[in-house]
Amino acid sequence: MAIRQIRLDSDPILRKKSREVENIDDKILTLLDDMVETLDVAQGVGLAGPQVGVLKRVIIVNVDECYKMINPEILETSEPELGSEGCLSVPGYVGMVTRPKKVKAKFTDETGNERIIEAEGLEARCICHEIDHLNGILYTDLTEEVYTLEELENLEKDE
Ligand code: NI
Repeated sequence: MAIRQIRLDSDPILRKKSREVENIDDKILTLLDDMVETLDVAQGVGLAGPQVGVLKRVIIVNVDECYKMINPEILETSEPELGSEGCLSVPGYVGMVTRPKKVKAKFTDETGNERIIEAEGLEARCICHEIDHLNGILYTDLTEEVYTLEELENLEKDE
């Protein structure tokens, strides 16, 4: 396994749409393993292909358990809620973003099986955030409320 470089928000690759994975070959399996390791070292909860410079529809979501998702899709969403989130490609910032409280999602796992999961809270938020990356969307596109960690602390003190 290897740690890959995480692309930052000024990198145009983050604005491109990723392609479906057609064959789960060694290259994809290595990519998934590298992404898990990269995410672990960065101490994040999610990572998408474009963030390591690969325009393939693969994401890692590691909230309650670690999912390697190939060609993930949202099937159903619940009512929305406002919550905070960050992104390894936008270090040092946190934004308030409206996302569904719960999602039902399908994906192909690394053995080629189709799986369906139901997620809520941070895990649901993370799945939506990472799938957005596959479509060239960053959370900063979805909200005007983006703060530094220090600003967020001060806001919370004022409330
Ligand atoms: Ni992100």
